[in-house]
Amino acid sequence: MTAKVSKVSEVLAALRSDHRNMAMLLRLMEHEIQRVEDDEEPDFELLHDIMHYMAVYADAIHHPREDLVYAEMRSRGGGFADGLDGIEPDHEEIAVLSIRLRNDFDAVISGTAVQREQVIGDADEYTRRLRDHMQWEESDLFKRADRMCAEDRSASVDVSHLSANDPVFGGEAQSPFAKLFERVRFEAKAAMAR
Ligand SMILES: [Fe+2]
Ligand SMILES: [Fe+2]
Repeated sequence: MTAKVSKVSEVLAALRSDHRNMAMLLRLMEHEIQRVEDDEEPDFELLHDIMHYMAVYADAIHHPREDLVYAEMRSRGGGFADGLDGIEPDHEEIAVLSIRLRNDFDAVISGTAVQREQVIGDADEYTRRLRDHMQWEESDLFKRADRMCAEDRSASVDVSHLSANDPVFGGEAQSPFAKLFERVRFEAKAAMAR
């Protein structure tokens, strides 16, 4: 069976779109976490859905797709490969922080006592870490990948095993993300009206 390959330039466009979507979810999360800090009632179901999305899409699809692009860059050596050794550990650490935060939200929803400071601290660490990571990719790694595509228009990777549809930003609401899907649509409309 022949592998189904995708052009790196097309994969990069999807990765950049994922970053915009994740940035929106991080802003939504910060808004709700601010309510925790203000002793107001945050929407923990929404927070849980955001972290569920991060588990099934960001950690399971987005980062592995990037790993394939970075492996292709690494195989070309030279300037393409500089500093790339840190990327997989970064993805792994983000996944660990992601699980920890989702567990916090799960515990709150199920009525288990969780320190308010723990929720705020874990959310803060996760958002900072993921933002810094995306910033590194946007300002450095994706630009190097663009250069690779400019030098070799046929540069490609096999992402066929990572072809799952985005369950929130993929155009239609997928169970169990209906509520998050509606909220994201609302935010997108509000942003267009501004
Ligand atoms: Fe990444
Ligand atoms: Fe990324």
